[in-house]
Amino acid sequence: MDKRRIAKWTWPIMFLLLFACDKKEAAVTPEQTPDDVSRRTVVEPAEASPAAPAARRPIVLGFSQLGSESDWRNANSESVKEAAAEAGIELIFENAEQSQEKQFEAIRSFVEKRADVIAIAPVIETGWEPILREVKQAGIPVIMVDREMKISDSSLYVTFIGSDFYEEGRKAGKYLRDVMRDEPGPIGIAELKGTEGSSPTIERAKGFRDIIQERSDFRIILSEHANFTVEEGKRVMEKFLKEKGNEIRVLFAHNDDMALGAVEAIKEYGLRPGKDIIIISVDGSRRALEKLAAGEINFVVECNPLIGPQIMQAVQEIMEGRSLPKRIVSAETVFTQSMAEQELPNRRY
Ligand code: AHR
Repeated sequence: MDKRRIAKWTWPIMFLLLFACDKKEAAVTPEQTPDDVSRRTVVEPAEASPAAPAARRPIVLGFSQLGSESDWRNANSESVKEAAAEAGIELIFENAEQSQEKQFEAIRSFVEKRADVIAIAPVIETGWEPILREVKQAGIPVIMVDREMKISDSSLYVTFIGSDFYEEGRKAGKYLRDVMRDEPGPIGIAELKGTEGSSPTIERAKGFRDIIQERSDFRIILSEHANFTVEEGKRVMEKFLKEKGNEIRVLFAHNDDMALGAVEAIKEYGLRPGKDIIIISVDGSRRALEKLAAGEINFVVECNPLIGPQIMQAVQEIMEGRSLPKRIVSAETVFTQSMAEQELPNRRY
């Protein structure tokens, strides 16, 4: 073989020998599991290149969801799950089905599992300080999501991401004030409230009253909790109609699900929802906008459940050590009957 031919084959042969040695090193030894080997083969290139980022474990987020009572809630849960997956955040999701006790259990389990951040959508406003102190002692930051917790020590949470429920109540009141501008009183109003002690119930009721008090002939003649569900909205509306069917001119439902139940009850009672009884609701779910377009609901104040991406951004910023505003308010609008048709194709929930 001449010198040129030898030189031509030297490098390919050396390369093959090196490759074979490498393979041998990566083989499973009696003390190793296949996992150990694959972990090692992933880490090695990073050691060879100092510029490559070190492999880090994903951020772990514990999310205590309060329940699944409404279309809004289900859309909110989906938004959190989707956004976590997109952001590469490991999500531990627990649904408390309306029980504060179950939320406590879930939060304690997140502490045990050493979650990096805990997010809580609280079913009611009060009773949170002791558990939040436990979480603070464990050194885990907390994000308040959707509903507010009434706490005196603001160091117990980093930020509160969610809607302005008081403003939603005011928007509902303003619509009523405007639509009844030329109608003489007294105007009998029935109110379907959400879960007792929850911040949307408390704040929406407050905001609504603060506006309608401007007219002394607006009278809330019936007001009861129906827990944000279709079934209870229907049952309580049936009761209202039995008691004062001929005095109810307006229904303010604190969410769409209860309004949908009430629409059924009103029809069964023999009145026309949206005409004989003006219906104002909150959320902006697809099913409610369909009723709005059909003229059976008159006005819907939007409450946006799609806050998963904002939550994940906050989680990442907390982990990077950045400071966040104490309050992050969701951007929201209102829907009239003429807007409903146009909005329906965009509705994701
Ligand atoms: O906290 C948000 C409220 O809770 C929504 O308006 C309602 O539909 C939900 O169940």
